[in-house]
Amino acid sequence: MSLSIVILAAGKGTRMKSAQAKVMHSLAGRPLLQHVIDTAKQLTPTQLTVVVGNGAAQVLPFLEGNQVDAAMQTEQLGTGHAVMQAKAAMIEADQVLVLYGDVPLTQALTLQALSDCVAEGGVGILTTKLADPTGYGRIVRDLGGQVKCIIEQKDADPETLLIDEVNSGIMLLPSQWLLSSLDKLGNNNAQGEYYLTDMIALAVTDGLAIDTVCCDDAAEVAGVNTRLQLAELERHYQRAQADALMTAGVTLADPTRIDVRGELTIGSDSTVDVNVIFEGKVSIASNVEIGANCILKDCEIGEGSVILPNSMIDSSVICENVNIGPFARLRPGTVLADKAKIGNFVETKNANIGLGSKVNHLSYIGDTDMGQGVNIGAGTITCNYDGANKHRTVIGDNAFIGSDTQLVAPVTVGAGATIGAGTTLRKDAVDGQLTLTKSVQRSVEGWVRPVKKK
Ligand code: UD1
Ligand code: CA
Repeated sequence: MSLSIVILAAGKGTRMKSAQAKVMHSLAGRPLLQHVIDTAKQLTPTQLTVVVGNGAAQVLPFLEGNQVDAAMQTEQLGTGHAVMQAKAAMIEADQVLVLYGDVPLTQALTLQALSDCVAEGGVGILTTKLADPTGYGRIVRDLGGQVKCIIEQKDADPETLLIDEVNSGIMLLPSQWLLSSLDKLGNNNAQGEYYLTDMIALAVTDGLAIDTVCCDDAAEVAGVNTRLQLAELERHYQRAQADALMTAGVTLADPTRIDVRGELTIGSDSTVDVNVIFEGKVSIASNVEIGANCILKDCEIGEGSVILPNSMIDSSVICENVNIGPFARLRPGTVLADKAKIGNFVETKNANIGLGSKVNHLSYIGDTDMGQGVNIGAGTITCNYDGANKHRTVIGDNAFIGSDTQLVAPVTVGAGATIGAGTTLRKDAVDGQLTLTKSVQRSVEGWVRPVKKK
């Protein structure tokens, strides 16, 4: 069976009170629409089309980046009208699955269950039961329990309003039937819109089998209409991530105070303190400790490493038994070998730090290749930028750099070299020797302190 998926995303999103298109608002660091597209792709459709209208200027470039087709709905005349705009995308397919761009948390497994329950040539509706169904279309059934139609809140009589089973909006329909029947939709209803939901009564008339899957987890079919609802779904999503981590053997100091905005894997017996944010692709081994308030983005962290509080790590590779922080900032291109140590108020960028090397305090190490067993004194700066170009600093094994040193790149410190405190190194320092650039200490006889003029 070939499947064409149509995602509706042309609506206004008035209640977001935002200049940004609603479907471009972020949940877990990704646009709402990205969640829906990613889920849709898991079903391997032959066609994937997003109906755009409001905010098209923002949505179209995003779709291009995702290599997803767009259909324009210039006037928003209802969900049925929106589907009409995607007719061209349905011609080749056996079935059409309609998803909503503002319903981000539907699981591919749930959609698969919907697909599995539908008889050949029949219609499937994903529903859910809500304690407060206000605002949703109600699933109306006959005495035998067969679906008769869907009635929108605004068109419902008091008896219909009591129905607690609601339409998620997600529907699976046979495409040839849909193509030939869409034009029968009218807009004679409370909102003057062409409702996709009216296709159900038409399908019943045409004798199509209607099946439903009732989703237990209301969050899977919850739409985002307001920022409040967005925040609620974000928390729901984050709690699910936290639960999965704990189930996998990770200790979380507080499962309500962790944010996963990407793909995260953590090995067992690792611990995560409060208010840690993971972004992008992060992979953490076993027995790693992550302190409070750390932000880890696109990085790998090896077994036994300890990240102390308030550290930021971006696009870096951390090997095993490394110590970082507190208050360390590892910028892109940092690679820390086993047992390396990066202390407080240290910034690194494009730097390879060798086995067991230490940069403990208040330093900037950029564009650097550092060997093993190196000790960098407090306040050391690699001067990597000449105002136009970046240059590298090379530091050999077991070198010792005194505090408050400037290494003016390009420059090489030889293996085993010692650099005196306060040195401004502009030329290479030879292996195994002490290099100093500051004048030798002397006491000036007869020197008097300046005094304040009266
Ligand atoms: C719709 C359903 C309702 C269901 C509810 C679930 C209809 C008529 N009603 O109501 O039964 O319970 O969703 O959340 O289908 N859209 C367009 N073009 C349009 C109108 C809407 O692309 O002309 C898109 C919106 O961007 C949104 C989705 O369709 O992603 C749903 O539209 P919305 O106006 O929110 O529908 P509801 O009134 O919530
Ligand atoms: Ca809605």
